[in-house]
Amino acid sequence: MITLTINQQTHEYDGDPQMPLLWYLRDELLLKGTKYGCGMALCGACTVHVDGNATRSCRLPMAAVSNAQVTTIEGLDEKHQHPLQIAWAENDVPQCGYCQSGQIMQAASLLAATPKPDDTQIDQAMAGNICRCGTYPRIKKAIKQAAGGDKV
Ligand code: FES
Ligand code: FES
Repeated sequence: MITLTINQQTHEYDGDPQMPLLWYLRDELLLKGTKYGCGMALCGACTVHVDGNATRSCRLPMAAVSNAQVTTIEGLDEKHQHPLQIAWAENDVPQCGYCQSGQIMQAASLLAATPKPDDTQIDQAMAGNICRCGTYPRIKKAIKQAAGGDKV
């Protein structure tokens, strides 16, 4: 039995310990905000926080999250009032939207560790999150706004 906390709720899982966390989130808990992109830990669409760190859930076996604290986009701020979510809306960041929950979770991890990141730090932190729609300039602008820097 694997016990873990997801969005501040305790869950017990007794299935295949090698099943990726993403499958559990989407197919068993119906938390559909976290997306399946490449399935290879290469695109960032499936990014969640595990013990506060941005982590690709598509390649992370359930055995690796025993006793972990997991946060998904649904649990980042239940009222969608996280500074990043506000900045994302004000800057109309998403296009198709598919990559965006992963982008926000990655950015939230960056701001938690580095509240006032410079351009290089943003570029480095976000480099592994792919957006096929090319929303990168708006993502960067929104991160800066959320960090209390550039206003729209
Ligand atoms: S779906 Fe996990 S990194 Fe692409
Ligand atoms: S908004 Fe479409 S993939 Fe990023």
